Amino acid sequence: MIKLHDKFFKPFIPAKQIDEVMQRLATEIANDVGDEIPIFIGILNGSFMVVSDFVKKYPKPCEVTFIKLASYEGVKSTEDIQRLIGLTQDLTGRTVVILEDIIDTGNTLAEVHRIFKNENVKSLKIATLFYKPEAYKKDFKLHYVGIEIPNKFIVGYGLDYDGLGRNLPEVYQIKQTQHMTNLVLFGPPGAGKGTQAEFLKEKYNLVHISTGDVFRFNIKNETALGMLAKSFIDKGELVPDQVTIDMLNAEVEKNAGANGFIFDGFPRTNAQAEALEKLMDSKDSQINAMIALEVDDEILVERLLGRGKTSGRADDANESIIRNRITEYYNKTAILKEYYSAQDKYFGVDGVGSIEDITERLSAVIDSL
Ligand code: IMP
Ligand code: MG
Repeated sequence: MIKLHDKFFKPFIPAKQIDEVMQRLATEIANDVGDEIPIFIGILNGSFMVVSDFVKKYPKPCEVTFIKLASYEGVKSTEDIQRLIGLTQDLTGRTVVILEDIIDTGNTLAEVHRIFKNENVKSLKIATLFYKPEAYKKDFKLHYVGIEIPNKFIVGYGLDYDGLGRNLPEVYQIKQTQHMTNLVLFGPPGAGKGTQAEFLKEKYNLVHISTGDVFRFNIKNETALGMLAKSFIDKGELVPDQVTIDMLNAEVEKNAGANGFIFDGFPRTNAQAEALEKLMDSKDSQINAMIALEVDDEILVERLLGRGKTSGRADDANESIIRNRITEYYNKTAILKEYYSAQDKYFGVDGVGSIEDITERLSAVIDSL
């Protein structure tokens, strides 16, 4: 992933693939042009890399020149195209091939056609490395197309975002979700996970997704997924991971404006961790860290027994039940600790101390991501 100005981009088309496509275009055009000496015309600025690589691969004599148009602001194409440097030579009777880096709306291409209308060229062919069919609004024929791409903003290989990115040898695509901090939060019962999640949520504009809450919400509101989950629960079966993932997906989509998510109660298994990774990947995002609050067993027992006295929660009142829950927690999370450690994403945080101290320790981890 790279950052240009305020935006994040992910790798999209590697240099090797671009090279192969440029080779194909050069060969194809050389075959069609035959014995004529063509004039290749690059549209500046974006096409400088395309032209440079293309003519190096062109197997026969040719001429090269450029015209310079300006049509883009930020990440949006504009109708208002300025001609900055026009044609400087007579093209009468010549075979002209326009070399473009990208054709988006086709506005630039319309201007190119306007420029060549009265030039009496023998033929005018359009070649472009990238083409966004969903964005194209014109009828001009595109004679040679390198790669058709979806209507998403790209940078690299001559293409820029507000001046940056032209020098990159490969092409990157804008991330659908901009930078996100996604955490998987763990902690044994009594570690203060809920309290800390509340603070982190506020401080970093994160959405706390507790799987238990999500289940209860969907079942209570009788959503399609809730009913599906309930049908398994009623049969005494485990809810399939895909159903849970679909519910989490809905939560993530509902909160598109958040800076990220705190996942709580999920994943519990390697398969779930992988499914969560896939879900985040489909949003151009990722899990950045598993953070586990670490508290010594004896302290947990003491805290929970204390809580049991005031809360009246039966499972907090009995020491052996408490110890079982703690053991079960470690049994369950050990696999995930390994899973995230292998990706350098596991962070154990000392969960003993004042609430503020612990929040500060958690913040230090998040700020370092
Ligand atoms: P059109 O006039 O909308 O076809 O856009 C053509 C020009 O817009 C190209 O020559 C580029 O300079 C610019 N452009 C279009 N799409 C992109 C993109 O995804 N990234 C960077 N520049 C783009
Ligand atoms: Mg251009």
